[in-house]
Amino acid sequence: MEPTSSAQPMRLAPSILSADFGNLAAAVDLVTPGSDWLHVDVMDGHFVPNLTIGPPVVSSLRDHTDLFFDTHLMITDPARYLEPFRDAGSNGCTVHVEVGQTGALIAQMRDLGLRVGLAANPDTPFEALEPYLDQVDLILCMTVFPGFGGQSFIAEVMPKVRRVREAALAASLSLDVEVDGGIDETTVVDAARSGANVFVAGSAVFGRPHPLESATAILRAAIGATSAYEERS
Ligand code: DX5
Ligand code: ZN
Repeated sequence: MEPTSSAQPMRLAPSILSADFGNLAAAVDLVTPGSDWLHVDVMDGHFVPNLTIGPPVVSSLRDHTDLFFDTHLMITDPARYLEPFRDAGSNGCTVHVEVGQTGALIAQMRDLGLRVGLAANPDTPFEALEPYLDQVDLILCMTVFPGFGGQSFIAEVMPKVRRVREAALAASLSLDVEVDGGIDETTVVDAARSGANVFVAGSAVFGRPHPLESATAILRAAIGATSAYEERS
């Protein structure tokens, strides 16, 4: 199958969900040379059955690093927390289309000066995202059901990734297409060839003995997969 190439830069975003929370600053330092963004997973125990971190942790990390904070809000009431996350140092926030009020949330994120992301669970169709493609900076296609790190990549999401990229290209949109869940050196190939350009990886980075080398290998595999395709076509 032909690749759906993207003019957007390829980016690796390690997810701190799989890092040592007792030693977060050191974990971030370790992967910084191989990271474009830092992915911050926020869970509220309602939208997903897990609890993670809030603005105070983002604020502490902000004092420590200049990395772009890609803040993934797996929460049912993002309107209440967007400003605290912006104030804590989040650069971009991504809300889930499943929580509703999407138009108002996009407007709120813009007003706050945040980079705007919209996420969809694996079983949420392309059509739920389509009305918002020209209003956001990033579409996140979840490649696992959100809530936990270390799950297996759901390849059935790739046709949706492809449709998002093709729609963005057709409309000349500079849209980042991000994938999150089960991304490693192998699965990233499928995601990159489908048109994704931002790759979140948690356990395949922080769960490995050499996180920086693993991060670099994942991004290299993504770039190699698409350039090899493009050279042949
Ligand atoms: C899942 C989170 C992901 C998770 C990815 O709910 O949104 O960002 O940390 O972890 P891995 O890479 O282990 O699937
Ligand atoms: Zn995430």
